[in-house]
Amino acid sequence: MTDRTLVLVKPDGVARGLVGEVVSRLEAKGLRLVAAELRTLTREVAEEHYGEHREKPFFGSLVEFITGGPLLALVVEGPRAVEAFRALAGATDPVKAAPGTIRGDFGLEVQNNIVHGSDSAESAAREIGLFFPSL
Ligand code: PPS
Repeated sequence: MTDRTLVLVKPDGVARGLVGEVVSRLEAKGLRLVAAELRTLTREVAEEHYGEHREKPFFGSLVEFITGGPLLALVVEGPRAVEAFRALAGATDPVKAAPGTIRGDFGLEVQNNIVHGSDSAESAAREIGLFFPSL
């Protein structure tokens, strides 16, 4: 069965020139691009995207970071796309992420961790609707 997930190359990943690396890895894995857009998020969209973390101490900082520059929003599809991309991304904390994963190879900080991938089919549907309402 084909599933879809939302992938973000976060502002740190775009600024560091890692867009090609991320897209190359997910395409090499067999995931297919469905939509792509470079954009700078408004505070409103960022707060909705990270709504489940509203009460966390890092929420304000996370919203500042994700709105701080352009990011690349992607919708990708393939068998078990949510799980497949999260495996490519590695653990949220890049220091704990396995070498060979995107975060494990390129990151050091839990906030500036290069990519986001939806964490469930339900989150993917919500996040794709927020970023690409016409899909
Ligand atoms: S939690 O607390 O377990 O729900 O958090 P987690 O699912 O691991 O991470 C959710 C997103 O929040 C970011 N994050 C942080 N940002 C700044 N500071 C701290 N301490 C921090 N901890 C987590 C993390 O990068 C996740 O972003 P996404 O875009 O979902 O990967």
